Amino acid sequence: MRKTTLITGGAGYIGSHTALQLVEAGRCVLILDNLSNSSRESITRLEQLSHSNIDFIEGDIRDAALLDEIFSTFDIDAVLHFAGLKAVAQSVRRPMEYYANNVVGTLNLCQAMARAHVFNLVFSSSATVYGEPATTPIVEALGTGKPANPYGRSKLMIEELLTDLTLADSRWNIAVLRYFNPIGAHPSGQLGEAPNGQPNNLLPCLTQVAMGLSSALTVYGNDYPTADGTCVRDYIHVLDLAEGHLKALQVLQAEPGLHIWNLGTGIGYSVLQIISGFEDVTGISIPYRFAERRAGDVAECWADAGKAERELGWSAQRDLTQMLIDSWRWQSNNPRGYSAQPAPLLAVGMK
Ligand code: NAD
Ligand code: UD1
Repeated sequence: MRKTTLITGGAGYIGSHTALQLVEAGRCVLILDNLSNSSRESITRLEQLSHSNIDFIEGDIRDAALLDEIFSTFDIDAVLHFAGLKAVAQSVRRPMEYYANNVVGTLNLCQAMARAHVFNLVFSSSATVYGEPATTPIVEALGTGKPANPYGRSKLMIEELLTDLTLADSRWNIAVLRYFNPIGAHPSGQLGEAPNGQPNNLLPCLTQVAMGLSSALTVYGNDYPTADGTCVRDYIHVLDLAEGHLKALQVLQAEPGLHIWNLGTGIGYSVLQIISGFEDVTGISIPYRFAERRAGDVAECWADAGKAERELGWSAQRDLTQMLIDSWRWQSNNPRGYSAQPAPLLAVGMK
């Protein structure tokens, strides 16, 4: 039996891009996803792009019996754990779902891993665990802060759970990857971000305006203490992020224990810079209007990615232009995400 990497949440945005890179690197993968925020079509696209069959199980990380069956059927040597709910506003309205899915789900996964004697884990954390950063760029050594919502707190709780596992049992090898703001898509235009329901993140909202699916972008706040008054973030191409996972997997096997790495570019862009950058690369005007600040937003958040560079030999390679081109190619090729249904195109002002 071939050694296999289990990818929870592998039908989703970041997991699918990472799965493709693993398969391209010659790894065997098994995807477990309950399709709560994704579609089986992403697996079909993965198979087309990789020219191989991808093992996929539709199921939930909270299903202990299913996990035991998976670990006894496949020769799994590592788990990339992407599965989780990530909509911040929804987490405020439905905290129990977030704690049950993210925290209890991760605990359940770790328990099944321990029963199967599989101790290599890479976890999708978020810069949200820093809360309001005291300084930027953010270094891992700053320590965590107070996340502003249940989603962020679920990520922090999981980080603490994973830390305790490594303290209690030296067999655990765990990489906690703190993502900054993933955007972009596979350059084929076949894989990308396709959340079920209304998007909340900047790029999906912006590309929906560019498609004419919504009339104007709402910019939350123009009175922040930043150069142009709008929030600054560290946007990172999803392919760079995916590459970070491959590096983390390699280093985990060589250097056991708990590792925490920021995955960002180290460059911050404001919301207005993203809008004008997008207009420049696509030639499409983006109407926008300013609104009140969004609850829980911090003024500035960008990474010091030096630790990942030193310890993983990884740094982000793709620039903002590439991120915006790839985001736009994905959105314009797939106006309804992975659904075949065509989008009702409205007139969009071209520059
Ligand atoms: P996504 O929603 O596209 O992917 C997550 C996948 O997990 C989805 O396919 C969903 O169906 C699946 N899933 C959810 N709960 C599950 C469960 N109980 N059992 C099995 N599958 C389940 O999100 P993404 O953007 O690819 O994010 C992946 C991970 O990275 C998440 O944990 C997210 O919190 C984290 N993260 C994302 C971002 C971001 O901006 N996208 C930033 C920081 C951290
Ligand atoms: C958000 C979450 C964070 C989560 C991350 C990935 C909050 C407070 N934080 O990060 O916990 O890990 O998504 O899912 O929600 N913006 C607009 N108009 C829009 C959308 C966004 O102006 O329509 C602005 C936001 O105010 C923010 C920036 O764009 O300043 C980036 O927003 P977003 O893409 O949602 O990411 P974060 O808020 O950084």
